[in-house]
Amino acid sequence: MPVCMFRKKWIQLLTALCLLAVLFQYCVQKQLPEFNDPRGKAYAGSSNCMSCHAEVFTTYQANAHMHSSGPVSHESMRRYMAKGDNRFVYRSSLEVRIEEKENRYYQTAYDSGKAKASFPFDMAIGSGRKAQTFLYWYDATIYQLPISYSLVGQCWANSPNYPKDKARFDRSIPVGCFECHASYIERTGVMEQRGYRIDAFDKTRLIYGIDCERCHGPAAAHVAYQQDHPAEKTAKYIAAIKSLTNVQQMEACATCHSGLHEPLRSPFLFRPGNTLKDFYRADTGKFPASELDVHGNQYQLLMASKCFRASVTTMSCSTCHNPHRTERSNMEVYSVKCMNCHQPGSKHFCTLAAKAGATIVKNCIDCHMPSVPSRIISLEGAQHSNIANRVRSHLIGKYGMKESGQFSK
Ligand code: HEC
Ligand code: HEC
Ligand code: HEC
Ligand code: HEC
Ligand code: HEC
Ligand code: HEC
Ligand code: HEC
Repeated sequence: MPVCMFRKKWIQLLTALCLLAVLFQYCVQKQLPEFNDPRGKAYAGSSNCMSCHAEVFTTYQANAHMHSSGPVSHESMRRYMAKGDNRFVYRSSLEVRIEEKENRYYQTAYDSGKAKASFPFDMAIGSGRKAQTFLYWYDATIYQLPISYSLVGQCWANSPNYPKDKARFDRSIPVGCFECHASYIERTGVMEQRGYRIDAFDKTRLIYGIDCERCHGPAAAHVAYQQDHPAEKTAKYIAAIKSLTNVQQMEACATCHSGLHEPLRSPFLFRPGNTLKDFYRADTGKFPASELDVHGNQYQLLMASKCFRASVTTMSCSTCHNPHRTERSNMEVYSVKCMNCHQPGSKHFCTLAAKAGATIVKNCIDCHMPSVPSRIISLEGAQHSNIANRVRSHLIGKYGMKESGQFSK
């Protein structure tokens, strides 16, 4: 066989292979937008953000939002159990014990030493910064277990809203908890039970934690477009949060950070740029800035602060918070944010600077945003003691020496 014929065959074969490879690539790309997200075709799911947003994706894995609801982790349960007293005593004859059976945890009520009701830990609500509460499924409905873990008190405590003298398992959990603590759950109906309305769910259509698209809105079209145009460096089909007004940006956080109010539309449908008043019935009554409700009204408190009132077009939650990172307890990092507006030496700096000394720059927070006990989230610990969760007040202001608790030093 002449050498050139041999070469020609090779070239033909290579060309055919290349064509096949291109065709294969094309097919794979065309198939990718078939995401399988319980919210529908418009959503891609967080795992599909990682390939292009690796840094944000990775740092976000440690964020409290991400773990605001989820399956019960054996790691945290073992940590709680290691503390020793794995029960809550109502009175000498009545207690709830935590038990591990076949790699699963249960809460069992014991009345005069006899085991009564026993239900498993199916789900945790709360990332475990201050407290975690646990739920169990009963067909399509979900209920709170009688005792919760308080990280503040380092002990098991009576779950909020349960009586002090009875071990009950009957507080049903409404969709509202998931609207703030999860990305999605499908409500399939509302049942009447002894005069109470109980939400029923499709538990296979549940997305734990607060994921990328819960804040950024559905992103399947964005993913499909950017995958098809890998050279494109600007984003398409996704809201640019930075181009929204500061109030629009704050309202996106306020879907969950403005306390409890009656929804008009499902908060699961909130998209960047939407207005809060289309989603919630307006707060009734005036808002007394000193009142903190269930889970803290960061939105209203900040808006009532002089800092905000003197910066109404510029200040937002992102002025101080990076939504993807975890900066909790780092008072120096937060104080730098204060000093972006209150420069040391300027007339806008702290009037106390001369008295308080140089260390003042390390912690503006404890004096001007004191941590105050929440009135509503308080748990009942051993011997019926009260364990109040503390909430950082977003009413930035001049507090007396007593509230700021700093002057004894
Ligand atoms: C195939 C690559 C790719 C994937 C996958 C991808 N993105 Fe993007 N995204 C981009 C590019 C490119 C930009 C523009 C540059 C930048 O801001 O990083 C962008 C920008 C963004 C922005 C900023 C928009 C702006 O204008 O401020 C957001 C928000 C965003 N993406 C969210 C997501 C989410 C959520 C997911 C997953 C559901 C996702 N992206 C998946 C490529 C991708
Ligand atoms: C879908 C509801 C929801 C939205 C939207 C939301 N948050 Fe949250 N946020 C929560 C919940 C729930 C927690 C408590 C998480 C936990 O520990 O379980 C939380 C916790 C936090 C914390 C405390 C985190 C820590 O590590 O101590 C900060 C700060 C915060 N949110 C800021 C924001 C900002 C800023 C925005 C807007 C960019 C925002 N949140 C949007 C529900 C939400
Ligand atoms: C309007 C939104 C909203 C609703 C509704 C809501 N939460 Fe929360 N929850 C929050 C926010 C915001 C925080 C964080 C507050 C803070 O750090 O002070 C939080 C914190 C918590 C925590 C402590 C988390 C931690 O790790 O410290 C638990 C537990 C909790 N919520 C349980 C529930 C349960 C159970 C329900 C339903 C009965 C519920 N929440 C309903 C917004 C909400
Ligand atoms: C609690 C709400 C919230 C969640 C959850 C969230 N983001 Fe963001 N994201 C924001 C806000 C607010 C901004 C604008 C920040 C700013 O103004 O600096 C932003 C900005 C961005 C940007 C553009 C600027 C940048 O930092 O690169 C990208 C890309 C992005 N987010 C991707 C993601 C991805 C991917 C996830 C999930 C892993 C995610 N976000 C989860 C609120 C959120
Ligand atoms: C976006 C800019 C900005 C940021 C960030 C900011 N402030 Fe302010 N703050 C202001 C302005 C403007 C005023 C009003 C000044 C005036 O009226 O002279 C103010 C007022 C104050 C006051 C006086 C309140 C009163 O009731 O008289 C205190 C205290 C204060 N800020 C502390 C802080 C602390 C602490 C932080 C950080 C947690 C902070 N600020 C972050 C802009 C800001
Ligand atoms: C040890 C507690 C403490 C610390 C730390 C502290 N402050 Fe203050 N600050 C005060 C008190 C108390 C006042 C009110 C003094 C008064 O009424 O005259 C005040 C007043 C102010 C004012 C109001 C000024 C005015 O004109 O009325 C501002 C702004 C302020 N502080 C900012 C800051 C900033 C920014 C930091 C961090 C760099 C900081 N403070 C750290 C206790 C503190
Ligand atoms: C001027 C700075 C500033 C602004 C603006 C701001 N925060 Fe904060 N936020 C803080 C500081 C400081 C903390 C305390 C952090 C800590 O204790 O670790 C905090 C804590 C929180 C927490 C945890 C509460 C707790 O008690 O554990 C939540 C939730 C939160 N912020 C939400 C928001 C939301 C939502 C907005 C916008 C409406 C907002 N913040 C705006 C400074 C700010």
